[in-house]
Amino acid sequence: MTRTRCDRTPAWAALQTEFLARGRAMDLRNAFAVDANRFERFSLSAPHVFADLSKNLIEDRSQALLLDLARQCGVAAHRDAMFTGQAINATEQRQVLHTLLRNPAPALATYAVIAPENVASELVRVHATLDAMLAYAEAVRADPGITDVVNIGIGGSDLGPQMAVLALGAFAAQGRRLHFVSNVDGHELDAVLKQVRPEQTLFLIASKTFTTIETMTNAASAKAWFEAQGGTDIARHFAALTTNVAAARAFGIATTFGFWDWVGGRYSLWSAIGLPLAIAIGASGFRDFLDGAHAMDQHFREAQLEHNLPVRLALIDIWYRNFYGFGSRSIAPYHSALRRLPAYLQQLEMESNGKRVDIEGQALPYATSPVLWGEPGTNGQHAYFQMLHQGTDVVPVEFVAVKRAGHELSGHQPLLLANAVAQAQALMLGKTDAGGHKHFTGNRPSTFLLLDELTPASLGALIALQEHRVFVSGSMWCINSFDQWGVELGKVLARDIEARLASGDEAGLDGSTAGLLRRLRAPRDLPVVTDHAHDDTVSTIKAMK
Ligand code: F6P
Repeated sequence: MTRTRCDRTPAWAALQTEFLARGRAMDLRNAFAVDANRFERFSLSAPHVFADLSKNLIEDRSQALLLDLARQCGVAAHRDAMFTGQAINATEQRQVLHTLLRNPAPALATYAVIAPENVASELVRVHATLDAMLAYAEAVRADPGITDVVNIGIGGSDLGPQMAVLALGAFAAQGRRLHFVSNVDGHELDAVLKQVRPEQTLFLIASKTFTTIETMTNAASAKAWFEAQGGTDIARHFAALTTNVAAARAFGIATTFGFWDWVGGRYSLWSAIGLPLAIAIGASGFRDFLDGAHAMDQHFREAQLEHNLPVRLALIDIWYRNFYGFGSRSIAPYHSALRRLPAYLQQLEMESNGKRVDIEGQALPYATSPVLWGEPGTNGQHAYFQMLHQGTDVVPVEFVAVKRAGHELSGHQPLLLANAVAQAQALMLGKTDAGGHKHFTGNRPSTFLLLDELTPASLGALIALQEHRVFVSGSMWCINSFDQWGVELGKVLARDIEARLASGDEAGLDGSTAGLLRRLRAPRDLPVVTDHAHDDTVSTIKAMK
């Protein structure tokens, strides 16, 4: 399909004019003063999620132009191309069909109507795999002999499952521990192996490619540990979650749950990669999780752009990134169980949209992905909210709050929610009656996402919302949000450096890399090097006198 780059549309030029004319000078306090209905007019609901967008720097005109931009970029057609199985991941010639993973089987007939036969038939395979995976999860849950499950994976094979298992801990069966090992740093696996017993442990080797060096290294060490401890039943204690079944079999694993190339790593939580979550919350909970995401998919596919929450969030992202020049967005989940949500969203958005060329490979003249970062509230208030309130940079904040607590402790939830609302209010209002150190400029924008409760369905909807928001901004930036060539260079160089660490060969290396290798290879710790450059500078200055 042909795509239109955002900067080549009439709306882009109109937005540039609008920003200079009104956007740049907009003051949220004035916007609320002149419009008593601003909250109602700039809020909207999607399945399981209420969004208060009213504390964003948008007005009717800028919003209308942003919607024009989405239309002129062909976002709806691009969205439909994704859902109907066109190979929109052009640099890898792949479809992008993670949404198929959460499409309920009975809809097969519906799906067949709107999608090519191959997609409809894929849905049959999706459900066969899902049913098998969930049956396995239930078998593990029914097995008193398995007390510990260790997921070995990294990136999308770790961040999603780990975030979701933590988020839905209240729905998890008690008495079974889930561990997540991702880093090739042996300290991580070593710490877990010290906590578990081989006869009571199930290792899940989660890797779409089954080639990622961190995962393969950890998997080999886990297997070696298991066998050294006298373990023999690999079939009972190891399972693989991968598209590369042959590699898993070569590793010695017979129990494999597959998925497909049209599932990107950072979009794979809905696939077999989600097995740790299925073991934690059970088959029924996992299906609720899928259903929540599917409800958001339907919203994304059917809602008019102006009432389409993924679209509205993405338009604000574009407005801030490409017109206000805001470089980052801070994620503030006001629920402790969502504390890994920022890390998950970092990969989702920054690995998807951290691109500098368009779909044709041409360098872009405008910015793309912002930096995402954040910690749970209220912790962030005692760490970096100082900068958010009084720093030189404006950083839009995305609050994610949950109305109902999952605990019975009195007084905590009202205090937590009061803090979330108050922080958003303080960012907007500021404190302008004080000068100097105690002056708060205010007019600092935020989005407030509110869930009634944190359940498998609401978490599924929230994650799907974020996936589709990332899709829309990437679509308008005319980039490929579904490849990740940028991760390859470091992997290649690491293999070369690993060999040189062993051999000491510095041929062709830059001075820094060679110097670091020398220090790392030194038989004893070398003294702290004085700053010779400083010495040289001093001697130069002396010579100049
Ligand atoms: O970071 C690069 C990447 O390919 C991610 O996209 C992916 O989620 C991660 O590495 C792990 O890949 P795999 O699941 O194939 O081990």
